[in-house]
Amino acid sequence: MGDLAQRILGRTRLSVTVLGYGAMELRGAPHWHPKAKEMTLSQAQAALDAALDSGINFVDTAPDYGQSEDYVGRCIAGRRSGFFLTSKCGCLRDAAPPPGSVRPPHDFTRAHIRQGVEDSLRRLNTDFLDLVQFHGTPTKQQLEENDSVEEALALQREGKVRYIGMSSTLPHIRDHIAMGVFDTFQIPYSALERDYEDIITEAAEAGAGIIIRGGMARGGPGGLSGPNWDAWESAKLDELLDGMDRMEFLLRFTLGHPHVHTVIAGTADPDHVRANVQAAMHGPLPADVYQETKRRMDAAGVVPA
Ligand SMILES: NC(=O)c1ccc[n+]([C@@H]2O[C@H](COP(=O)([O-])OP(=O)(O)OC[C@H]3O[C@@H](n4cnc5c(N)ncnc54)[C@H](OP(=O)(O)O)[C@@H]3O)[C@@H](O)[C@H]2O)c1
Repeated sequence: MGDLAQRILGRTRLSVTVLGYGAMELRGAPHWHPKAKEMTLSQAQAALDAALDSGINFVDTAPDYGQSEDYVGRCIAGRRSGFFLTSKCGCLRDAAPPPGSVRPPHDFTRAHIRQGVEDSLRRLNTDFLDLVQFHGTPTKQQLEENDSVEEALALQREGKVRYIGMSSTLPHIRDHIAMGVFDTFQIPYSALERDYEDIITEAAEAGAGIIIRGGMARGGPGGLSGPNWDAWESAKLDELLDGMDRMEFLLRFTLGHPHVHTVIAGTADPDHVRANVQAAMHGPLPADVYQETKRRMDAAGVVPA
């Protein structure tokens, strides 16, 4: 089989592989996240090498992901010219969500954004990020009160970041799109979590690059929040698999959205990396299967917001 397909990441014009690598699973332990587990340097090396050796050219991490940035810096900084590297800003590194919330706290002051990016560069063992994304979906008001975007633009002028993105969710995402300053949006989306299906189109038509997280429905039931795995059963999606496993089916559904540019599939398992690459090489689901999946999910009540 050939190489992974590439798509142009909106107005960044970066040519990114349709399958990216989400490095959150390299967080290690201890960490507040319920899925946190021990992660050695050699395990992280194996997962990251599997991603780059398979042709993936886009790696997503964040200061919020435990040891992830350190491992990316230690394991693949020597291959830096072979991939686009993105991290996040605003993170209070590894601070746990306050009681009653699943979202960790953030600080979008100018000083913290600068310090955060400079700390990321040091951990990642690089001089620049291809993309820095605001993490945690700050409101437009928070961004304006703090002049947060100005600081990101200053870092861009200094060459420390090439492009500026937003990891965005409802209800703020339309404000973020209208601000017109973000080169990319990172958005949760899969067959089981279709809230953003139309918003992805809106953001892409405004010129932004679209990075999908949760594109494999976060691996299965039992996460903090997110996809409706019961809907898989009620829609009888197993009937549509035709030899695929569920993960391949989900990834190929996500790739079927015409405005998705890259899906940052998260995994700490090198075999899963390679399986995901093979799945992505099969391309989007056949058109009839894609339409039937949407029809069944509509009937199951999993619809765009
Ligand atoms: N901006 C944000 O707020 C935010 C939030 C969450 C995530 N992210 C980013 O998005 C990336 C992906 O998001 P996500 O982790 O929420 O969702 P995801 O990519 O849909 O799912 C990841 C889960 O799927 C499992 N998985 C992956 N490939 C598999 C395979 N072939 N077979 C079986 N299981 C498989 C992984 O477990 P194994 O390790 O066992 O493979 C992991 O538990 C993260 O790594 C991170 O970079 C960003």
